[in-house]
Amino acid sequence: MKNIDTKVVDKHYGSGGIMDKIEAGLRQAGKDFNLLTVDDLAPVDGFHTRGRLSTIEVAELADIKTTDLILDVGCGLGGTPRYLASQYQCNVTGIDLTEEYITAGKQLSKLVNMHDKVTLHHASALELPFDNNSFDIVWTEHVQMNIADKTKFYSEIVRVLKPSGRLLFHDVFRGYGDDPIYPVPWAENKSISALVKEKDARLMMEAAGFDVEQWHTKTHESIEFFKQVAVKIKTDGPPPLGIHILMGDNAKEKLKNQAQNLNEGRVSIALGMARKV
Ligand SMILES: C[S@@+](CC[C@H](N)C(=O)[O-])C[C@H]1O[C@@H](n2cnc3c(N)ncnc32)[C@H](O)[C@@H]1O
Repeated sequence: MKNIDTKVVDKHYGSGGIMDKIEAGLRQAGKDFNLLTVDDLAPVDGFHTRGRLSTIEVAELADIKTTDLILDVGCGLGGTPRYLASQYQCNVTGIDLTEEYITAGKQLSKLVNMHDKVTLHHASALELPFDNNSFDIVWTEHVQMNIADKTKFYSEIVRVLKPSGRLLFHDVFRGYGDDPIYPVPWAENKSISALVKEKDARLMMEAAGFDVEQWHTKTHESIEFFKQVAVKIKTDGPPPLGIHILMGDNAKEKLKNQAQNLNEGRVSIALGMARKV
């Protein structure tokens, strides 16, 4: 198993000036900062395929209750924690390796008045700073493709989940075609990319102590989504606010490569739910 240098991952995502870029995008979109809502941030704070749409699909797998304690592992800017807290009125904690995302995420939570319900920490998925049996639900979206040690990744999640607690996931996997083309949104090159096939990830979850109850491959839906976005950008140009502003100068190339990777079966996308046995 190769090692992934977490400093390179932090540098990849924390490119500097993120909050300025988000504020500029919000201004350009004509948003009033005094009336800002969780939905206003949705175009930029869901750094995963199909944005808010897929977050809703994942949430619907779990019958989330107001009393559920939720942890988002690799929460990025904290968009999903804010969405879940506002939608289900529950308390949500997020951790992420990229310090700049956590700093910006706390500012964004304040801007939309969600800082009482959402707690964000700078931490590694491989050393979760929580006691055993702490959470009802652990959520993770588009993170494990940056983590080589998936045994540790899933065993840390099992550890912090309460008995019968649920893991909700939405991830990128290695497809059955040729090697992926880089750069992609999660990596400039393969040094910080650790893709495994869907069937292997499922086996790793089971080995860590999960019963995988739901697995839905969403590659087709993701391909369609990329096509629709491409048409919209061709007609209207890039939107003022979107995850492209998190991807640096070569955002266009990263998104184009990922669309090609999906089209050619080099990567796949799936979401689902697994229960701690
Ligand atoms: C593509 S972003 C997804 C962010 C968020 N889950 C979302 O959907 O908006 C990947 C995130 O994984 C985080 N990440 C990568 N490796 C990590 C690790 N070992 N521990 C914690 N977070 C990690 C990155 O810092 C980044 O914020």
